[in-house]
Amino acid sequence: MSLDLSRWRMSRRALMRSFGASAVGALGMTFDLKSPLANPLWRSTPFTLGIASGDPSADGFVIWTRLAPDPFAEDYGMPIRRVEVQWEVGADPQMREIVQKGIALAHPELGHSVHVEISGLAADRPYWYRFICGTERSFTGKTKTLPASGAPTPKLRLAVAGCQNYTQGLFTAYRHLARAEPDLVFHYGDYIYEGSSPELRQVDGEIAPTVRRHHGQEIYTLSDYRRRYAQYKMDADLQTAHAAAPWFFAWDDHEIDNNWASDIDQDNTDPNIFRLRRIAAAQAYYEAMPMRMSSFPVAERIQLFRRAEIGDLATLHVLDTRQYRSNHACEPPETDRLCAAIRDEKRTILGERQEAWLKDGLAAAKTRWNPIAQQVMVMDYDRDPTPVQALNTDAWAGYHANRQRLLDHLHQQKIRNAVVLTGDVHQNFAGDIRLSGDKADAPIVASEFVATSIASGGDGIDQRPGAAEVLAQNPHVQFNNSQRGFLLCELSHNAFVGRFMVMDRVATPGGAIMERAAFAVEAGKPGLQKA
Ligand SMILES: [Fe+2]
Repeated sequence: MSLDLSRWRMSRRALMRSFGASAVGALGMTFDLKSPLANPLWRSTPFTLGIASGDPSADGFVIWTRLAPDPFAEDYGMPIRRVEVQWEVGADPQMREIVQKGIALAHPELGHSVHVEISGLAADRPYWYRFICGTERSFTGKTKTLPASGAPTPKLRLAVAGCQNYTQGLFTAYRHLARAEPDLVFHYGDYIYEGSSPELRQVDGEIAPTVRRHHGQEIYTLSDYRRRYAQYKMDADLQTAHAAAPWFFAWDDHEIDNNWASDIDQDNTDPNIFRLRRIAAAQAYYEAMPMRMSSFPVAERIQLFRRAEIGDLATLHVLDTRQYRSNHACEPPETDRLCAAIRDEKRTILGERQEAWLKDGLAAAKTRWNPIAQQVMVMDYDRDPTPVQALNTDAWAGYHANRQRLLDHLHQQKIRNAVVLTGDVHQNFAGDIRLSGDKADAPIVASEFVATSIASGGDGIDQRPGAAEVLAQNPHVQFNNSQRGFLLCELSHNAFVGRFMVMDRVATPGGAIMERAAFAVEAGKPGLQKA
């Protein structure tokens, strides 16, 4: 217990006399449950999980924290009651000029997370923010509002990251991401991994020791998921990246369970039982991320596909390819086995509502670029070096009809400058998406940058054995690399440049980053070029 409540300390008998048994908590303290706890005295900081900002608009953003003075303890060291948290938004890093402030309530029902939706700020400028709770203050984070819709916007720097398996690598790449000072971060998912952590792990056929251990076993309940998020969020490099820029984000599979789809998990659990796990995971994800009220979880559902207009430069379409998809066509997914069902017209990866929303948004966009920020690879990638085709059916390749409808739409509606930003496979790729699969003569309708993982896969290697032979089977793909890092996108009216930033190592501290390769799409001229 890290909260010093000595001011309320009375003998248990006296409390029973005064308030009756029901008012006496398990900790031998009494609370007026109707009024929130203001100005608590802390023995240790409640801001162990850092702070974050997200979902920026032209006049605001969400600022987030979660109070957890003792993150792995039962109730994470907090009393089970509401607690008042002050927040401040400043116009300068020293917080000399406070432009907005207020008091938010951290509710026990929400793991004492705090989500404040700020509005009424000036467009296209940095702001700083912090939280104060009683005797403790958080550090100060930097965030930014977006340029106003349609406003002349010469450039934008967008970092793309994800897949951060805590047990397989350190998050050093996040420190480098923060130093790069992007305007915006897109996290494509796999923010946590749900499994336990064996002492040894297998990477590319090699046995290696686990870099760090997960606290506890595989996670199923709300308190399990809360503790897992807490463990990840205590990482200083991750906290630094959150405090450096506003994030957009969407989940992939590991926020719930590996390769889940529809109402089915990889262990074929009864869907009613699996649904309870999804409900717990959805709530914990909301509690952990700087998310707007419009994404508040309703049972197992969270509204995550959303759009941001960034001046006259870009319309960012954030997709959720996990929550509404049909079950995998071929079991198990991610194998060399392909089945006819991948072409089934009725199967979907986006769901009907999201597909219509994406098509409408692409057709209506008036900005120079249309980044489609999402999870799994859109272009086909044949992983077999022989003429046998091996596709990842967990990705868009397993939902052929849905992908073709999107590509036809891009072509028929003459939607220019679509760039797909992807994650999931723990490798870097740059390639072009052609109207009919990888047929070399079909028109290019978009280009795709696949960003590698922050930590999943460990140190990695520049080129996996046999990589050149596999790449030769995929003439639409220009680049592949299997190290850790992130993608740094630089958008201007002339070009969309993607820089693959890779780490020399993540299994040991102090890893260095370098730009491994860069590709550009010239505005109005489909197809990747070397930058
Ligand atoms: Fe991953």
